[in-house]
Amino acid sequence: MPARAKIVEVGPRDGLQNEKDVIAVEVKVELVDRLAAAGLTAIETGSFVSPKWVPQMADAADVYARITRQPGVSYSFLVPNLKGLEAALAAGVEEIAVFGAASETFSRRNINASIAESLVRFEPVAQAARDAGVRVRGYVSTVIGCPYEGAIAPTAVARVARALRDMGCYEVSLGDTIGVGTPAATLAMLDAVARDVPVAELAAHFHDTYGQALANVYASLEFGVTVFDSSVAGLGGCPYAKGATGNVATEDVVYLLHGQGIATGVDLDALIDAGAFISAALGRPTGSRVARAMLAKRAA
Ligand code: HMG
Ligand code: MG
Repeated sequence: MPARAKIVEVGPRDGLQNEKDVIAVEVKVELVDRLAAAGLTAIETGSFVSPKWVPQMADAADVYARITRQPGVSYSFLVPNLKGLEAALAAGVEEIAVFGAASETFSRRNINASIAESLVRFEPVAQAARDAGVRVRGYVSTVIGCPYEGAIAPTAVARVARALRDMGCYEVSLGDTIGVGTPAATLAMLDAVARDVPVAELAAHFHDTYGQALANVYASLEFGVTVFDSSVAGLGGCPYAKGATGNVATEDVVYLLHGQGIATGVDLDALIDAGAFISAALGRPTGSRVARAMLAKRAA
C-alpha cells in the first residue's frame, strides 16, 4: 500500500451537473471553498460544455471568478472542444480535462462524436491548452460497462487511454460511468491499460451505482493506483448515462485510506461539514455512509 494517495474531488462538476433545479452560484462557490479548506488540492469545479447539453454548468466562468483560489489547489474544468477551451482560457483557468469514452454509443450520446472523431477534436484542444501553460487531464468513460452496449473490452479502454496520454494528458482518469464494475473486472481493465500507460499516470473514477465502488478503490490501490476521483456526499450522475448514480463519496474514500494508514491531507471533519452543507442546500440526505455515521455520532 502507498504512504500517500491523492483525491480529485469532482463533486462540484460530476456531482452537480445532473441536478435539475438551478443551483445558485453562491452555493457552488461556498462548496468549492469549503472543499479547499478541508484540504483537497484538486477540485473539478465545472465544465465549459454546451449549455444546451448541460444547463447546470453554464455558470462555470462565474463560479471560477468568485471562488477564493487557494495556493496549491488546482481547480479544473471539463472542456469538450476548442469553443470550450476558448471560454476556459478567457476565464483564466489553469487546468482542463478532455473527456472521451471506450464505448462508441456512449461517445455519440455524450459528446456527439465517434471515438475517433473525439480524439481528432481533442488533439488541438490539448495542444492549445499546453501552449497556454494549462495542464490537461484526460478521461475515459465507460471503462467497464456502457449503458447502451453492455460490457466493454479492456483493450478498447487501453486504446483511448493511450491516445489521451500521447496528446499530452498528464493523467488519465478511468471512469466506471455506470458503476457496474467489480474488483475482478476493474483489475482486468487496469491490467490492459497499464500495458500502455504507466500506472503512476492513471486515476480511478468509480460511480457507486451497484455498491462496488469502495471495493474497486481497494482493488485499484493494490494494483498500484494512487489517484482517486470522488464526490463529496456521493453526489452525482451523468446526464447521458440513465440510472447512473453518484461517484463514490469522498468521505468514504478518505475514511478507507486513513484507516489503511494512507495519508491524503484531507481533514475528514471539515469534509463532512462541506458534505452536510451541500446536502442541506440540495435538500437531501448525504450519500456518504461515513458522513451519516459521523453526523449521528456528533448528534448523540
Ligand atoms: P454538438 O451539438 O455536436 O456541438 O455538441 P456543436 O458544435 O454543433 O454546437 C451546438 C451548440 O452548442 C452551438 O450553439 C454551439 O455554439 C454550442 P448554437 O449555435 O446552437 O446556439 N457549443 C458550446 N457552447 C458552450 N461551450 C462549448 C460549446 N460547444 C458547442 N464548449 C458538444 C457537442 C461536445 C458541445 C456537446 O455534446 C456537449 O457539450 N457535451 C457535453 C456533455 C457533458 O458535459 N457530459 C457530462 C460530462 S462527462 C461525464 O460525466 C463522465 C465523467 O465523469 C467520467 C465518467 O464518469 O465516466 C467525466
Ligand atoms: Mg463521472
